[in-house]
Amino acid sequence: MSKAAMAIRERISDRSARICVVGMGYVGLPLAIEFAKAGFRVTGIDVDKKKAAGIRAGKTHIQDVPAADVRDMVKKRRLTAQDSYRGCDRFDVILICVPTPLRKTKDPDISYIVSAVDQIGPQLRVGQLIVLESTTYPGTTEEVMRPRLEQGGLKVGKDFFLAFSPERVDPGNTTYTTHNTPKVVGGTTRACNKVAVHLYRQAIEHVHQVSSTQVAEMIKLLENTFRAVNIGMVNEIVLMCEKLEIDAWEVIDGAATKPFGFMRFYPGPGIGGHCIPLDPHYLSWKLKTLNYSARFIELASEINGQMPQVVVRLAADLLNGKKKSVNGSKILILGVTYKRDTADVRESPALDVIRLLQQRGANISYHDPYAPTLSIDGKKTYRSSPLNKAVLSKADLALVITDHSSFDYDRIVDGSSLILDTRNATRNVRRGRSKIRKL
Ligand SMILES: NC(=O)c1ccc[n+]([C@@H]2O[C@H](COP(=O)([O-])OP(=O)(O)OC[C@H]3O[C@@H](n4cnc5c(N)ncnc54)[C@H](O)[C@@H]3O)[C@@H](O)[C@H]2O)c1
Repeated sequence: MSKAAMAIRERISDRSARICVVGMGYVGLPLAIEFAKAGFRVTGIDVDKKKAAGIRAGKTHIQDVPAADVRDMVKKRRLTAQDSYRGCDRFDVILICVPTPLRKTKDPDISYIVSAVDQIGPQLRVGQLIVLESTTYPGTTEEVMRPRLEQGGLKVGKDFFLAFSPERVDPGNTTYTTHNTPKVVGGTTRACNKVAVHLYRQAIEHVHQVSSTQVAEMIKLLENTFRAVNIGMVNEIVLMCEKLEIDAWEVIDGAATKPFGFMRFYPGPGIGGHCIPLDPHYLSWKLKTLNYSARFIELASEINGQMPQVVVRLAADLLNGKKKSVNGSKILILGVTYKRDTADVRESPALDVIRLLQQRGANISYHDPYAPTLSIDGKKTYRSSPLNKAVLSKADLALVITDHSSFDYDRIVDGSSLILDTRNATRNVRRGRSKIRKL
């Protein structure tokens, strides 16, 4: 092991290593808190000045991170934040958690990673560990980051250390947090691996090391492709059951009684969030460059992507049954975030459903305790309505998109004239079932 490797391992062990987390969002802020709690001094870098200032003031902007934790860590001088890359050479460890969206063409947009690396590169010094946590296609760390970082003449594995460790944060999950979710780590060289594994062991309960950055990158894409494909499959089961006039939800519940060889996935109005709708496309794009078509990914994306249209078709059928058209009908959307009990609306299927209903002339309103306002394409901004008898009775159709656990489904069914439930959230409601149509 090189002198530089031994030195950084020592600094990690005695907590004198200074850690920097780049991108203080859903992934970066919880990670920064975890290392601060483990006794390290952590600095967050975020180009969003408001976020950086908020953290310095002890505030949180992420639902899963309690303000008390941020306040406590800031007070103990273990956490601070800045909005520039100034002084990156004073950090021993830099963990990169910037966004990895898709372009309109569904091609990966790794410009945030490139921008971060291009600002860190010129400040790179002997002994630093750089880890990419953002989800990306296999090869990014080795082919995109490494050459940029080595440009100044330092050698990876000897002078500085480079690794990939995918983040697995599950927003809203209180059982599995950053601390107790096993962490996969793959280094560019064996020394990189050792240094990175040593770092994560200080703050994360279980660290699983793999042989390369490419394997670590692919693991994350397998995990998310697994979800996208299985959700696509179960959504197709719903479409098949509709043709067969069978209750798909009852079928899924029945199949889930099998204690082995079956895993329950839930159908719904479409997929959302920053991971499942996007990440598999990183993999299929990479495979396209190798002249291979990732068929499961494409098919799952097609089926999942169609679900908002299926919802709108069902809504139109229901209204039609009451001699009403979508055009001019008042439709109340219940829940607009992409997932139950979270505040994230990124890629939420509610956005697509609202767009489609707007195009057909519906009068939309919504209620969501987690999203006080909702902007559609930056053109129209809705405000969450209160959820009361008057609001429910005014709507021609109540459309459950997100099954928040705070919703009182008995009251919702009682107060509505017609309900389309895309999550089977009303399964326990006894009264007024004839008004409910499930996806
Ligand atoms: N949100 C999740 O549930 C989740 C789970 C696992 C993995 N991931 C992956 O983690 C990565 C980050 O996702 P996220 O949900 O935390 O995103 P996010 O949008 O919540 O946070 C990213 C942060 O990076 C900042 N930023 C953007 N460009 C920057 C730059 N050049 N330098 C410094 N800061 C910059 C943004 O202002 C933002 O605060 C993505 O690759 C995502 O796919 C996300």
